Amino acid sequence: MFDPSGVEKRCDNLVPRVRKLVSEIIDEHRKSLEGCERQLGDTGDFVDVLLSLKGEEKLSEDDMVAVLWEMIFRGTDTTALLTEWAMAELILHPKIQSKLRAEIDSVVGSTGSINDADVAQMPYLQALVKETLRVHPPGPLLSWARLSTDDIQLSNGMVVPAGTTAMVNMWAITHDDSIWSNSEKFNPARFMVSEGGVDVDVRGGDLKLAPFGAGRRVCPGKNLGLVTVSLWIARLVQRFEWGPVDSSPIDLSEVLKLSLEMKKPLAAAATARNCV
Ligand code: HEM
Repeated sequence: MFDPSGVEKRCDNLVPRVRKLVSEIIDEHRKSLEGCERQLGDTGDFVDVLLSLKGEEKLSEDDMVAVLWEMIFRGTDTTALLTEWAMAELILHPKIQSKLRAEIDSVVGSTGSINDADVAQMPYLQALVKETLRVHPPGPLLSWARLSTDDIQLSNGMVVPAGTTAMVNMWAITHDDSIWSNSEKFNPARFMVSEGGVDVDVRGGDLKLAPFGAGRRVCPGKNLGLVTVSLWIARLVQRFEWGPVDSSPIDLSEVLKLSLEMKKPLAAAATARNCV
């Protein structure tokens, strides 16, 4: 005889098993991305790294395509847009641009090549990248469409019912004057301890500025993203003086597509330094 309670029981058992499976897949995927990020520095080509994975880390062709697709999809526009926003702010704030150039010159000179290790010696550059992430977070709504699977009681007593789509509005947090004084002001010095600022961990350790998310779904490309953007900005500022283009003034209006873009793309005039 058909026993509906048996079906229910099997379903009850199934849900946690599926949840566990999905959880394991996500963890595996994350580990492989983080592993690739670690190895990139030594081996150079990303596809070579994927192909060289052995044993437990070895990926099937489908998984490799999925990893590459995610890297391209998630990693390119975020880094490009963050660089664009930073350059726009540097043009609007010539003093900040000069201060950054002076730091770069003091570490590598006006023509020396800049690498990751040099970036670590440039606190003002890092502060500038943090301030750009604060004012123009490329992913302003973290955790797009996360679904709560159970009723969740928050510490303030509110309950998020099961089945709710939840997002974190990081943009609102980073523009909140009760958290960031003069939040509208672009001021990298707020992250310079030597200038009375605070050193905030932007990699997910401090929720007042978590532009890469936080927790187990934190962006696995955060270190790569930070170092890439820092290197690009450092090289652009080392070699060129950046100014506005009269016919196309800088407009900081935002538009949210996949990432937070400049509504009017940046037009900039570059003058090479060290040229007679
Ligand atoms: C400045 C650059 C970047 C920013 C601001 C950024 C930001 C973010 C944010 C906000 C998320 C969502 C986190 C969440 O859902 O809570 C995310 C996820 C992700 N990012 Fe990035 N990202 C950057 C660079 C990169 C790079 C360079 C890569 C890869 C090479 C990458 C790969 C990913 C992937 C695969 C995910 C999905 C992780 C998951 O769902 O578990 N990102 N990123």
